[in-house]
Amino acid sequence: MDNKELILVLNRDLADEHAAILRYTVHGYQEGEDTPTGASLLSRAREEMWHMHWLGMIIGKLGGEPDMKPAPYPFDPANRSTMFKSYIDYEKKLIPHYREEACRVEDPHIRRVLEREAWESAVHAGKFNKILKRLTPAEASGKPGAEQKLPPEFISRLQEIIKSKYTQMIQSIRNAWVFQKDAKMGWQVMDFSMTKMKQLAHVAEEVAANGINPMFKTDKLDLSASLAEALKNAAEDLQKTRRDHVELQAGNEIKKHAGLALNIELTVNQEEYEEAEIKEWIHGLKGS
Ligand SMILES: [Fe+2]
Ligand SMILES: [Fe+2]
Repeated sequence: MDNKELILVLNRDLADEHAAILRYTVHGYQEGEDTPTGASLLSRAREEMWHMHWLGMIIGKLGGEPDMKPAPYPFDPANRSTMFKSYIDYEKKLIPHYREEACRVEDPHIRRVLEREAWESAVHAGKFNKILKRLTPAEASGKPGAEQKLPPEFISRLQEIIKSKYTQMIQSIRNAWVFQKDAKMGWQVMDFSMTKMKQLAHVAEEVAANGINPMFKTDKLDLSASLAEALKNAAEDLQKTRRDHVELQAGNEIKKHAGLALNIELTVNQEEYEEAEIKEWIHGLKGS
């Protein structure tokens, strides 16, 4: 397989892993992370994040542009039983898929990654099967997600915030992969993407607990080939999301949700910290 084809193949896998992360995260939030089913789904989602990350690092190292758009995740949403059956099918299909790809690749690291994604997909299928068997009849025929408690306008506001933070997070993951040659900077950018993931979770969990799919959609991404440009945009974007969070804090509805209010305050402080750090990195780049 030549480099161009390899990047294409890995980008398709990247999109599949991305889709799995979103599906298990949303379902996990809907169950609640303090339930055994929810905790297990979120644990799978975290493993899919490793899978996506290994592929992204390889694509970046090969000089490719990672495709940050998730593939569709086909599943039957009728009830928990059909959902978990779909997840088992999805994971099972990936086993021969990754094995076949691994056979076509010469690089030993890439081959090992693909083989690992194959056997970890088998583990995932097994874990989902265990959940499926453990479901009570009422759980099996029911759907996750509670009825709506938050006012619709507040939900739409939160959805906009989710979309912006999701875009910011995806953007920084992309930057960490693409600019990995500068190992220290790549790691610092990845470190911030993890904070963003947590900030996203504060709001997305709230929306999902209302039985609504959080808006895990990206605005246009900046595919800049220059690290300085990417950092400048990252700092500007943080100002925008911080403004949105401050606006949310000023509203009345948030005052009724003490936990969320506290997390938004934390996010605002973290955004201020991140912007200051990034500005210093930009300064450092200019000096070098
Ligand atoms: Fe995976
Ligand atoms: Fe998986």
